[in-house]
Amino acid sequence: MPIPFHTDPVTTMPNQAGRCMYAKIDELRKIGPAVPVSLPDGMTAWSVVRGDIVAQLLTHPHVSRDVNKAVPSYIPGEVPWLAPWADLQNMTTKDGDEHSRLRRVVVPSLTNRKVQQLRPAIERISRELLHGLADNDPDVVIDVHAEYSYQIPTLVICDLLGLPHDQRPEVLRVFRLVARTDLSPQEADQVHLDLHTAMRTLIATKRSHPGDDLTSVLIAESDKEHDPLSEDELVATLLLMIGGGSQTTINLIDHALADVSEHSQLRRIAADRSNNSRNIIEESLRKDCPVMNLPMRWALEDIDLGMNTIIKAGEPILLNYGGHGRDPDTNSEPERFDIDREHRQHLAFGLGAHRCPGSQLAILEAEIAVSEFFHAFPHASTAGDIDASAGPTFIGNDLLRLPMRLGERNA
Ligand code: HEM
Repeated sequence: MPIPFHTDPVTTMPNQAGRCMYAKIDELRKIGPAVPVSLPDGMTAWSVVRGDIVAQLLTHPHVSRDVNKAVPSYIPGEVPWLAPWADLQNMTTKDGDEHSRLRRVVVPSLTNRKVQQLRPAIERISRELLHGLADNDPDVVIDVHAEYSYQIPTLVICDLLGLPHDQRPEVLRVFRLVARTDLSPQEADQVHLDLHTAMRTLIATKRSHPGDDLTSVLIAESDKEHDPLSEDELVATLLLMIGGGSQTTINLIDHALADVSEHSQLRRIAADRSNNSRNIIEESLRKDCPVMNLPMRWALEDIDLGMNTIIKAGEPILLNYGGHGRDPDTNSEPERFDIDREHRQHLAFGLGAHRCPGSQLAILEAEIAVSEFFHAFPHASTAGDIDASAGPTFIGNDLLRLPMRLGERNA
């Protein structure tokens, strides 16, 4: 066993998003505050799905993001699927001052003021994509994931980072593989290598041709004299921004489109551009959380959660962000999509020092994507059970396809 764990797994975490993951969350919630689960490559970790315990551990002084502090014997790469989550030298694998140092480099690019400046560009991207979709026969089933939801966050993040157009296909290809938890160790190793190659190509291009973009900001941070970003930190931060800024938001847009398309009244509300569709997006974040389990956190000391559940020092903890929003004790009738829900609670963006700094950008993108879509296609509806397209991963709440009939376009 590559990473020590003091007890046997009780169940296995499925490599499948959507309904399968929701059922597993319900099962785990009933078992206990934390449950040993089997993960790929012989690893066991504590799965935590109860919202109060997730919140407690997200801010617990004895829970670290840094595997090296908790498991001194850990060898980078020894669990191939874990490497993109545990081995990268960016803010997600650091605590305290080390974390703040890496986080403050990107936060100024994601303030509300900066994000609002992106609104016209996001609206333009959405409208251009929808204009292209209008050529389709209204009754033909098209994959809205590939043609629309996938496109908006990837174009926005590529623009934010100034990624040259000729490098985009390779970068996006590799990122589609990162979140998969069903790859063989060899495939996972190759993905890791390909990611680094793509980032080093980007850095070389931007070093010789800097621009008004986040990659150039990060390169300037790595070139400064006092406390510069190391080359590893630069690469890892770029990887985090592209990965964190794309697949997450794609999932949000996919699920929000599917949820809204089920009710004509919701479609009308979404289609009204003057309306604030924030409640729609918040309800989708609650019901269909875009990031389900984010590897990995580590116990620095024994943590007693009660009910005979003790997480031992050095053991991995897999926190589930989606369980809180789907807990019937927290949100009544959690399966119901209700934009007027009072006291809605979810942890989709996390909590505490690592809370997602890109949340405002993600929400703006999703608001625009959903509102523009139903403004253009007020009768759009899903074709078949979208759960059949749930992605092969326990990390993101991915959809591989979103089959829809667009119906007649708004005149
Ligand atoms: C719907 C979309 C998104 C969701 C659901 C989401 C979710 C999350 C969650 C749950 C975390 C916290 C991880 C933890 O507890 O350690 C996180 C962190 C992060 N997210 Fe997001 N995210 C989204 C969009 C974005 C976007 C658009 C960006 C950037 C453009 C971004 C950048 C980051 C970064 C840099 C971190 C690391 C923060 C840290 O460790 O201090 N995210 N995200």
